[in-house]
Amino acid sequence: EIVDGAGQFLLPGFIDMHTHLREPGREDTETIESGSAAAALGGYTAVFAMANTSPVADNAVITDHVWKRGQEVGLVDVYPVGAVTVGLEGKQLAEMGTMAAGLGAVRMFSDDGMCVYDPLIMRRALEYANSLGVLIAQHAEEPRLTKGAVAHEGPTAARLGLAGWPRAAEESIVARDALLARDAGARVHICHASTAGTVELLKWAKAQGISITAEVTPHHLLLDDSRLETYDAVNRVNPPLREASDVAALRQALAEGVIDCVATDHAPHADQDKCCEFAAARPGMLGLETALSIIVKTMVEPGLLDWRGVAKVMSENPAQIVGLDDQGRPLAVGEPANVVLIDPAAEWTVEAKELASIARNTPYQAMTLPAKVTATFLRGKLTARDGKIVAG
Ligand code: DOR
Ligand code: ZN
Ligand code: ZN
Repeated sequence: EIVDGAGQFLLPGFIDMHTHLREPGREDTETIESGSAAAALGGYTAVFAMANTSPVADNAVITDHVWKRGQEVGLVDVYPVGAVTVGLEGKQLAEMGTMAAGLGAVRMFSDDGMCVYDPLIMRRALEYANSLGVLIAQHAEEPRLTKGAVAHEGPTAARLGLAGWPRAAEESIVARDALLARDAGARVHICHASTAGTVELLKWAKAQGISITAEVTPHHLLLDDSRLETYDAVNRVNPPLREASDVAALRQALAEGVIDCVATDHAPHADQDKCCEFAAARPGMLGLETALSIIVKTMVEPGLLDWRGVAKVMSENPAQIVGLDDQGRPLAVGEPANVVLIDPAAEWTVEAKELASIARNTPYQAMTLPAKVTATFLRGKLTARDGKIVAG
């Protein structure tokens, strides 16, 4: 396939360490097939499918299915994430070894959307993961501090009468697990860092030589809790949209490498779970098809990151964290590559019903955004071109 890339940028295919596909369980909102299409259109060649499906991905039957189905669809490599514990209860460690040794070869385990709040369980999980050479990705929420919480705890939530989610609910777990990782000599990855305090803790932990990495979502780099004024439930997300000062700290941290990478936390939800009262809505936002544009708007346009930096935070750093080591290395002549072609001068207007995701819960509806993916190649094969999926 020959594509004319004059005036465009060719980057390594993006890797999303944090995607919620809803298969199995909520295929009315996203499937591995629809999510793969959204990913390819967003410039991704690999996504990590989070474990809070229904049933939970706490065993190799499910994680193997996710991998197999992703390969059948063939648009993007769908790496299954295993649950750290069995079911939603968070009481008993899952059989990570079996999942790691399965067809799905699980390399990352997470409590995202679930919460492991017992420090003893997390300590054992970190030790176990370390012995297997796999990564724990920490959702970073102390649920006893977030009971009923729907919005960032601060002046906006107070004025609007919304129950507050304190920064400490996140930061206390980041601190706890940095220390547990230190003692276990294990690696830990922090999902969706959202506060200035988390940035300070990451700086501290990295300075101690603790093996800690972190991601930030596009929405936490762009949006703050002033968006809640309208009570539009599309803005409900976990962790919640924070204050403008947090947004500034997150951007700076990503520019400086304190935060290692961008991950979407793509979280599809049905209309009936979003078009309701704010407090009754499910948390989460779509992210795959808009991520690049939001990074250009929040990081490239203000001069915080150049295009080399975009390749780092959206592909090379996640590849390194999850051990997809061939990403970003120089290819041999003739070797098929995972790459994305981007028109940096393009502008487009987000229209929810035109997105490939089944769900429509984008917070960027009707926004005009910079930069557009024009072609995505998975191992040399065109998967998306000019906003359309190229059938295999
Ligand atoms: O906003 C969120 N949505 N945060 C999570 O942790 C889970 C996710 C989901 O599964 O919808
Ligand atoms: Zn989460
Ligand atoms: Zn998530």
